[in-house]
Parts: sequence; structure tokens; C-alpha cells
Amino acid sequence: MALRARVVVKAMRLDDVAAVHEIERLSFRTPWPAHAFEQELRSNRLARYVVARAGEQIVGFAGIWMMVDEAHVTTFSVHPDWRRQSIGRQLLLNLAELASTIGARRLTLEVRESNEQAQALYRSFGFDIVGRRAGYYTDDGEDALVMTTPDLEDPRMQAVLASERERSGT
Ligand SMILES: CC(C)(COP(=O)(O)OP(=O)(O)OC[C@H]1O[C@@H](n2cnc3c(N)ncnc32)[C@H](O)[C@@H]1OP(=O)(O)O)[C@@H](O)C(=O)NCCC(=O)NCCS
Repeated sequence: MALRARVVVKAMRLDDVAAVHEIERLSFRTPWPAHAFEQELRSNRLARYVVARAGEQIVGFAGIWMMVDEAHVTTFSVHPDWRRQSIGRQLLLNLAELASTIGARRLTLEVRESNEQAQALYRSFGFDIVGRRAGYYTDDGEDALVMTTPDLEDPRMQAVLASERERSGT
């Protein structure tokens, strides 16, 4: 386990892609190739990506695509050595704030049915399960659960975000 350090969340830059891809590779069975991140940063105007940094080290990252009035979480991961230190919470809070800034009404995502850790985090952020995509993951045919937040302006959601801000000291 790495030592605790102050973590800041910033916009992802092209220079960050190698470190991001390494975390992606350690986290997912079918990782995005590095060039997919580069292409997203260079040319997808509907996408926003952020990284969590502890000093010089990139320890996590996340991204959204703006789809009409929803911000869809496309990728989200924390380096295995840095998990359970609230970095995932910090990234998700930052995504919610970013989504709100660019006019999204809510956050949505797909998560593996077996990924109970991530689901626990999403539930604590106000996400509910609203659907299922059968056989969504092509590597093993696992179903995805579709989860979404209430309207980001909804008082319940504002309360969640306020409590996460307080927790992260931002
Ligand atoms: C999901 C993930 C991003 C969480 O990152 P993290 O920095 O470890 O998460 P946090 O420390 O902020 O934990 C937030 C909450 O998530 C839940 N959680 C995270 N890891 C957990 C675990 N191993 N067991 C149980 N609950 C867990 C808990 O509810 C936790 O809240 P708590 O610390 O108050 O109990 C990380 O586990 C990860 O990168 N997993 C692999 C990639 C992945 O599954 N991404 C999501 C794809 S949809």
C-alpha cells in the first residue's frame, strides 16, 4: 500500500496517457489501447477526462461523454496500490461537478454485475440501478447494470455532493 498523500484532480493531458494506460491495463480485462485515450483527448469534443495526482504520480483517472443532457462515465479507475484511500470518491465528485458545469442533468454509467465494490461507491453517490444490458461485456458475456444519479440539481444529489466535498476537504 502506498503512503497517503494529498491528491489533486486535474484535466488529463496527452503527457499523462502512458501512466493512465498502465492503470487501465492493471484494472481491466480488455483495456482501451493508449491511442484511444490520445484520440479522445485530441478530437472528441464531447469528452472530458481527468486524472488524480499524488505529487508527480498519476494514481487514477476518469472520463465522461456528454450525451444530450447526460454525462456518461466512460472509464474510471484507481491504481491498485492506491485503492481504498477515497481517490475514487474524489474522482467521482470531480466528474459530477464537471458534468454540472457543462450542462449535464445527471451522470449515467454501465458497471459489471459482479463489480460490487464499484457499485457500492456508485450507490453512496446517489446512483440507482435503472436497467441491465444482457451480455454487454464481450470478453466473457457478463451483463452490465445501468446506473444513474438523480438530477444533479435535486436536493438529494446536492446533499450527497456537499457531504463528499466536506469529506475530501474541497
Ligand atoms: C472502483 C474503484 C475506482 C474505487 O476506487 P477507490 O479509490 O478504491 O475507492 P474509494 O477508496 O474512494 O472507495 C469509495 C467506496 O467504494 C466502495 N469500495 C471501494 N473498494 C471497495 C472494496 N474493495 N470492497 C468494498 N467496497 C469498496 C466503498 O463503498 C468505499 O467507501 P468507504 O471507503 O467509505 O467504505 C477501484 O476499485 C478500481 O479502480 N477498480 C477497478 C476498475 C473499476 O472497476 N472501475 C469501475 C468500472 S465501472
